[in-house]
Amino acid sequence: MRLDKFLCKSTELTRIEATALIVAGEVLVNGQTVTSASTQVHENNRITLDGQVLTPRASRYIMMHKPLDTLSSNVDGDYPSVMNCLDVDKVCDLHIAGRLDADTTGLVLVTDDGRWSFNIINPKYHCEKVYRVSLRDPINDDVAGKFACGVQLQGEASLTLPAKLEVVSPTEVLLTITEGRYHQVKRMFAAVGNRVNGLHRQQVGDIKLDIGLGQWRYLTTEEINSFSVLQL
Ligand code: URA
Repeated sequence: MRLDKFLCKSTELTRIEATALIVAGEVLVNGQTVTSASTQVHENNRITLDGQVLTPRASRYIMMHKPLDTLSSNVDGDYPSVMNCLDVDKVCDLHIAGRLDADTTGLVLVTDDGRWSFNIINPKYHCEKVYRVSLRDPINDDVAGKFACGVQLQGEASLTLPAKLEVVSPTEVLLTITEGRYHQVKRMFAAVGNRVNGLHRQQVGDIKLDIGLGQWRYLTTEEINSFSVLQL
């Protein structure tokens, strides 16, 4: 991670304060003064500030149940940020692993561990995301087959990867996808002439949403580790 981020994770300093101390030559990495805030460091490097060895806080891994009309971003915009539901310190250090649209509800994973979230977001890892979808029109019999083969989304060079469709009722389905293209679920149903009226993410990998709307909890060790063993 970057040296300025390491300092923030080990102290109560803001990013600006950490950068100022680094530029002033107050920080040593393995006994050498380093004055660039973007220098990459490892947790096993010996990093000192004023002679004190710094130890970063443990990474955080959080499940949130995103309400309707909230943004999957760290700042408010047209709607309030979903991060307003979180009452933890240093929310600005956290990021969302896989965004949802403002009008989508459900499971959002939040962390400050970029390597962990990369395992979830990178399509190469085929991490499954399960969505409950409410449709405008009853689902046609041929849609499961089309989604299993991949569909052409407008403006995209390649077909979508195989996706699994389970019919719950004529206008309610479960869709499992392994990519995260822009508005993917809505565009997949548009590609087969239907329309999404309601979208809810209920599972990511092995992690199932099990808390109420607007609530959050820390993930268990088992849940955290379930993304460390994904294979290419
Ligand atoms: N697909 C969408 O269209 N929207 C989401 O929020 C997530 C997946």
